Amino acid sequence: MKLIKDVVIIGAGAAGMMCAIEAGKRGRSVLLLDHATKLAEKIRISGGGRCNFTNLYTHPENFLSDNPHFCRSALARFKPQDFVSLLKKHDILYHEKKLGQLFCNDSSQQIINLLQKECNAVNVAWQLSSRVERIDRVNISGEGDSHDQQFILRTDRNTITAKSLVIATGGLSIPQIGASAFGYRVAEQFNISVTSLHPALVALTFRPEDLTHYAEMSGISIDAVISCNGASFHENILFTHRGLSGPAILQISSYWSPGDAIHINLLPQYAITDILSEYKHSAILLTNLLARYLPKRFVDTWSQVMLQTELNPMKPMKQYSDNELNGIVEHLQNWKITPSGTVGYRKAEVTRGGINTRELSSKTMETSKVPGLYFIGEVIDVTGHLGGFNFQWAWSSGYAAGQYV
Ligand code: FDA
Repeated sequence: MKLIKDVVIIGAGAAGMMCAIEAGKRGRSVLLLDHATKLAEKIRISGGGRCNFTNLYTHPENFLSDNPHFCRSALARFKPQDFVSLLKKHDILYHEKKLGQLFCNDSSQQIINLLQKECNAVNVAWQLSSRVERIDRVNISGEGDSHDQQFILRTDRNTITAKSLVIATGGLSIPQIGASAFGYRVAEQFNISVTSLHPALVALTFRPEDLTHYAEMSGISIDAVISCNGASFHENILFTHRGLSGPAILQISSYWSPGDAIHINLLPQYAITDILSEYKHSAILLTNLLARYLPKRFVDTWSQVMLQTELNPMKPMKQYSDNELNGIVEHLQNWKITPSGTVGYRKAEVTRGGINTRELSSKTMETSKVPGLYFIGEVIDVTGHLGGFNFQWAWSSGYAAGQYV
């Protein structure tokens, strides 16, 4: 069977569906193709099943990229409010959880239904459970004009020709629900460079020697400030049976590279130096004093770790020298730890790195080397912070390409 379309979009996730809607509105015949049996599984599982679909305070500074300005144009043309308008049109109720993060009141399935309805309204065709086996770019006029080029896709069930090919296959995270390296392989085929890829928004693991000390703390959550490579986040950290997780750790993981230490301030909201000075002549045990500001279970385990250093944390406050108190402050407000790695793509929310943005037009998402070939969404080297920014990038980049395909 042979299909002829104006636009084929590979990847029926967030970016792919947004692009299909916009191209369909322009009267383009669009086919959305995906190898999964179900649409947009990542939207379904996102935000704990309620999809943190955007962030009201989206700025280019919320995104990492080798080319930090690339995302500006697309974000300016399709803003968080534009997606919110879509929710209002479909009577989907939502709320702000914190820090501008918008979630559905009910279920992330509502976002999938919204996108599907918008696609159907502009006659987007679907081809799910389908594998692309080969992509060729051929000249239909026999002359050298790039406008006469088209793509021929051979899939496990048909051959499709299209003038525009959009790659919206996302990143490598969660292969269990369909993530694949397809987008990067297409880039390689057309000689388009890809920046180095890393799991991001991901939990970090302890080195074996740290694990023996800190595994006891599994389940403890502490409000902290985490810093690494010039970035800093103030949110919760969570001790796990393998290392550290929680929003602050997920955020900093995007800035972390193997071998880097992270710095943790476990008492960011307290002037701990002043507190220790105030009790300097008191008989209260340091551990009892600290347990007023930190979870007791944390203080107990931390004390055991400290006992193995020259700092004994079990003494009455009046027995500490100024030097010792400074050492304690340093341990609590500038705890340095070097993770052994991350828990990897099976658990990461996103992939950092991707299609080199210098290969793409920031206006259209089209590649300069191969006219007619577009990349959108997470497959590009644009990675958002935690908090709805990655979906906003999917909507904005999908919208941008949708105006030109
Ligand atoms: P996306 O991954 O959505 O879609 C890619 C599509 O391509 C999939 O349908 C896949 O099946 C298909 N595909 C892959 N390989 C293919 C192949 N070889 N052939 C055909 N099709 C192929 N972000 C956020 O802003 N707020 C949030 O709440 C969350 N929560 C969240 C939770 C979890 C557990 C994860 C893993 C991720 C998030 N994210 C998030 C991140 C967000 O889900 C992600 O950034 C976007 O879904 C990216 O959208 P894309 O459309 O680019 O890819």
